[in-house]
Amino acid sequence: MASLKSLKKQAQEEITKTRDLKELDTIFKKYLGKRGKITQILSKIKNLRKEKRVKVGKEANLLKNFIKQKIETRAKKMRDISASAEETGVIDITIPGKRPLFGHLHPLTQVQKKVEEIFQSLGFSVVEGPEIETEWYNFDALNIPKDHPARDAWNTLWLKDSELLLRTQTSPVQIRYMEKNNPPLRIIAPGRTFRHEATDASHEVNFYQVEGLMIDKKVSAANFRAIIQEFFQRFFSESAEASREGGGKQIKIRIRPSYFPFTEPSFEVDMSCLNCQGKGCSACSQTGWMEMMGAGMVHPNVYKAVGLNPKNWQGFAFGMGLDRLAMMKYKINDIRLFYSGDLRFLQQF
Ligand code: DAH
Repeated sequence: MASLKSLKKQAQEEITKTRDLKELDTIFKKYLGKRGKITQILSKIKNLRKEKRVKVGKEANLLKNFIKQKIETRAKKMRDISASAEETGVIDITIPGKRPLFGHLHPLTQVQKKVEEIFQSLGFSVVEGPEIETEWYNFDALNIPKDHPARDAWNTLWLKDSELLLRTQTSPVQIRYMEKNNPPLRIIAPGRTFRHEATDASHEVNFYQVEGLMIDKKVSAANFRAIIQEFFQRFFSESAEASREGGGKQIKIRIRPSYFPFTEPSFEVDMSCLNCQGKGCSACSQTGWMEMMGAGMVHPNVYKAVGLNPKNWQGFAFGMGLDRLAMMKYKINDIRLFYSGDLRFLQQF
């Protein structure tokens, strides 16, 4: 009985002194292991007289559970590093610190900021409009009347039980801005757009566009060409590829006729393929060109919709996909990656 008492004291002291789980494990083995001190006592009690056996057996079992419990509590504390440091009063200053994790801007946000920066330096203001729109701003005012077949080009998400919709393009911001501001004006309007579409590597129900609009007394398609050429040059010459190969190459653009209800004439802007410099490769379907944006000279009906006299003003508008710009800049082949929230993807930017 006396040795049980001293064992209890000894074990208790040793447990308190342990500094890690390994030491604790050694103590466990010393007392409770196969050849542990308590185990040995328990195996010998059968040789004792009955009253003694009952007494010692009870005491030894109590001690066994006591030590077990002490070790468990101690281990739990150790697992909680800070609790353990408090308990022992020891802080290991040689352990390397934990590096805090810094987040960063999403690649699409980075691209949007770059676009804004370039256009701002060319005298454009950055403006915004609502993501939930009315039929008037998204369609009618842009010369797309109700029964016009061109409406089919935008697969619209309508809000339930209302006249409202999720904007299919950033073009309505043109209308909202011109209602409140008189020309001359130069704006870009970046923002989120939505279409009711099946998703694949190049389509998302949710994506980003940048709209552009410049109106003055005399603004021609040549002005448009110069500004867009400058934009692409600056936007892509700073991409890693261009700088690695020596300070950025000349980027060529070309303008093709196209159709949009809100511009006349309308055009599509292509840019020389970044991958092959116009020689033709799989990225540009061997054409040497990549489609970059829709654009045109603002249609007289658009001026009329905002109460301006088309005879007094001239201007151009354009719209391009931010996701597409980002995909080209960083050579990303699937638009869905931007919205996946996959850190393995995001941490590369
Ligand atoms: N809103 C058009 C689209 O989503 C893009 C566009 C084309 C915008 C021509 C324009 C423009 O301002 O002039 O497909």
